[in-house]
Amino acid sequence: MMQANMLRVRICAIEQLTPDIKAFCMRAIDEKALAGFSAGSHVLVSMQHGERVMRNAYSLASSPLQLENYRIAVRIQPQSRGGSVFMHEKVRVGDSLEISPPSNLFPLDRTAMKHVLIAAGVGITPFMSYLPEIKAMGVGHELHYGYRSPRHAAFIDELRCHWGGGLHAYRGDLAQRIDPEKILDGQPLGTHVYVCGPRTLIEETIAVARGLGWPEGHVHWERFASPAPGAAFQAYCARSQREINVAAEVTLLEALEAAGIDVPNLCRGGVCGQCQTELVAGEADHRDSFLTDVDKHGKIMPCVSRARGARLVLNL
Ligand code: FES
Repeated sequence: MMQANMLRVRICAIEQLTPDIKAFCMRAIDEKALAGFSAGSHVLVSMQHGERVMRNAYSLASSPLQLENYRIAVRIQPQSRGGSVFMHEKVRVGDSLEISPPSNLFPLDRTAMKHVLIAAGVGITPFMSYLPEIKAMGVGHELHYGYRSPRHAAFIDELRCHWGGGLHAYRGDLAQRIDPEKILDGQPLGTHVYVCGPRTLIEETIAVARGLGWPEGHVHWERFASPAPGAAFQAYCARSQREINVAAEVTLLEALEAAGIDVPNLCRGGVCGQCQTELVAGEADHRDSFLTDVDKHGKIMPCVSRARGARLVLNL
């Protein structure tokens, strides 16, 4: 059964962008315009695989200025829990899927005098929605995009065509490396930097910006970690008195949802804080980027975190 706030879309095109990234275009089933969104938004895509329902967050990689279709890009991760493999191997043009309305955890700051975007690999996707909005705003911008080799450069032709001079490309196969220090040093006052890509690139950019004295509010990053599998465990929901089995490849959040226990969620990647749940007993394997060390006592983010032992007790 479809969740109340989800909408049904039809896949209207699939494009193999690189050996491991596919783009999926989707339209509303009734051919109406889709809901508006702001640059940096993501949707949750619901994937029904047999009895199991997975919901993964994907950035919208289409223009917020056209709402005929949404586009997402998915990198296949064979070692993960199966969502990206499902998208790559099972989803065909003409199929219908359920998605959530767009939410934005990585918005553009509209007060910025200039935008500097730093992306590596599939981290380019949120910036595909940024660029049309930045162009419409008419403010200065630079895009620094690192990729392994030309065949791994998702959206590169589109970027060259529309962003020519503002695009700085870095090829790993030529030992070209994004250097945040070089990029950020000397930028005009009022510049904001946005970074999306591997954890190391994000951490380096944040550290460099801090070192150069950039205001914290001028540094933005997106770090969606797709939840990794782990060992199976039990979760006991104390208020509803339900014992839930969490299988190895299922997240605690998915197991709770499958049992009809709703937990608010937005990113499903351990960053937004929406799914925070009180942990009554048991030791959590914290995998989120939201809870502070102090908060980790007695709280858990079930979208990514699991149990260290055999059982957790939750205040649900
Ligand atoms: S849903 Fe965002 S932290 Fe869990």
